[in-house]
Amino acid sequence: MIVKNIGEKIYIFDQLTSTMDKAKEMVANGIDDGTVIMAKKQTNGRGSNNREWISDGNDALFSIVLDLSTSKISLIPIITAYSILLTLEAHMNKKINIKWPNDVLVDEKKISGVLIENFIQGGVSKTILGVGININSSHSGSQNFIYPSTSLMEILNKKIDVLLIVDQFLNNFNLLYKNLFLDKINLEKISEKLYGTGKIIDFRTNYSTDENMSENNKYKILGLNSDGTLRVSNSKKEILSLSYSEISS
Ligand code: BTN
Repeated sequence: MIVKNIGEKIYIFDQLTSTMDKAKEMVANGIDDGTVIMAKKQTNGRGSNNREWISDGNDALFSIVLDLSTSKISLIPIITAYSILLTLEAHMNKKINIKWPNDVLVDEKKISGVLIENFIQGGVSKTILGVGININSSHSGSQNFIYPSTSLMEILNKKIDVLLIVDQFLNNFNLLYKNLFLDKINLEKISEKLYGTGKIIDFRTNYSTDENMSENNKYKILGLNSDGTLRVSNSKKEILSLSYSEISS
């Protein structure tokens, strides 16, 4: 399979409901895989679990159309988060971690989010990868997530060019995406950036245990498995693998 460059074509819109919606609409009208759809503003930006994704302007808000076999999809969240992490690391000397499966935290504050939606179009399955990186927005006092949020501007005390960050992200993502198809993703290196390894972290999961389902569960993080699932142990010291679909928050 020939993997074309992601972001060879980038469409930038002043305002959309959500880049996810526009990407789906454009797929229906036939656009190339790897196309990036960006918005300067979203009126109905969405996050995971039907939450809103709010941006008060000048942030990176984009979706990428991907054509992926199911065997490769499981690593997409982690390689996307790692691409964001590498992009940010080039701008600052701070503790940056991946809160599995795909949140990126700077000094324990959330700076970006990733939303993945799969759908079937004309018998072909497509993946829309949505990325939001807080670049020039203000977050003091916002309590949208379990973690407080932040932006690059708040960290660096200056306005940052959104297109520069998107370009750097696409460079990092292209490299990792190609390695994904060559089975050359270095998960050990990525694991070093995992937030909370060895610690007990709360995950709201759909994982079914003997006595409960769909409630907050505390897990000790052990590391990443080769398929991108998270290896954890529960309070009974049982080893489990959490997959992206089992996490509801
Ligand atoms: C999350 O952390 O909950 C995921 C947030 C994903 C936000 C991005 S912004 C671009 C794309 N369009 C959307 O409506 N959502 C994603």
